[in-house]
Amino acid sequence: MNTEKSMYEKELAGKRVLVTGGTGGGIGEAVVKRLAAAGAKVATTARRMPEEPGAADLFIPADISTPEGTTRLVDGILEHFGGIDILVNNVGGSSAPTGGVLAQSDEDWQFAFETNLFAAVRLDRGLLPAMLQQGSGVIVHITSIQRRLPGENTMAYSAAKAALANYSKGLATELAPKGIRVNTVAPGFTETKAAERLIHRMAERLGSDYDGARQNLMDSLGGIPIGRTARPEEVAELVAFLVSDRASYIIGAEHTIDGGIIRSV
Ligand SMILES: NC(=O)c1ccc[n+]([C@@H]2O[C@H](COP(=O)([O-])OP(=O)(O)OC[C@H]3O[C@@H](n4cnc5c(N)ncnc54)[C@H](OP(=O)(O)O)[C@@H]3O)[C@@H](O)[C@H]2O)c1
Repeated sequence: MNTEKSMYEKELAGKRVLVTGGTGGGIGEAVVKRLAAAGAKVATTARRMPEEPGAADLFIPADISTPEGTTRLVDGILEHFGGIDILVNNVGGSSAPTGGVLAQSDEDWQFAFETNLFAAVRLDRGLLPAMLQQGSGVIVHITSIQRRLPGENTMAYSAAKAALANYSKGLATELAPKGIRVNTVAPGFTETKAAERLIHRMAERLGSDYDGARQNLMDSLGGIPIGRTARPEEVAELVAFLVSDRASYIIGAEHTIDGGIIRSV
């Protein structure tokens, strides 16, 4: 049997991985599952303990939007794994209120940058010494198409993701000669469990059904040429490729996975 599954099944055997935000039915959880299925030893983190154990081998509770949280996570990873081979900085998101720029306070901006930029910067800095010592490693930063298409109510998020993409490029250049590959994945509208809850809430507000509310959201992005949202597993597949040796010459590149939303070259 030489199916695609059997070809890639154990390609990450022996690799020690941290995926941040690997609970709750989103991209992070899908990445945990996909990398664990490829044979990696996977750790994850979230603020709350998951109800189900999930596919991760190790769960370290931490709020990585704070310096204390990232320190706790780095210490836990080094203690349990003795090092790290692959780091997927997945945690991110926006909780800013609607109402445009004047509705967004200093705290909203600070939260967006702590969660979407500084968490990754601090984690990279904490775990890089172990990668540098072994002369190898892979880092993926999850940004968003919003770093190129700023949203009206998510301006701080979009700006933080733009900063993350810029930082990621600089880091990739610095680390390439040292055997460490850094890349960025920019998803479009991905239908996670949290997105499903949002669509249900929108449907209630609009007095429409689920499909109608989803279409409304897709239209607000200017439409999605492929005609549907992404599944978290599709984003996880791209991450699995990027962290594998199949992507050995890919460095400092942003990989958009958006069903065609971004139409510019
Ligand atoms: N979903 C989309 O449509 C979409 C589109 C573009 C880009 N993205 C990006 O893709 C990434 C994943 O997004 P997602 O929507 O699929 O979310 P997700 O991967 O489901 O992330 C949620 C996870 O992150 C954890 N988390 C949140 N804040 C945390 C914190 N401060 N410290 C530790 N853990 C934290 C949550 O657990 P707790 O709540 O228990 O902490 C949960 O495990 C994000 O960077 C997001 O910006 C998503």
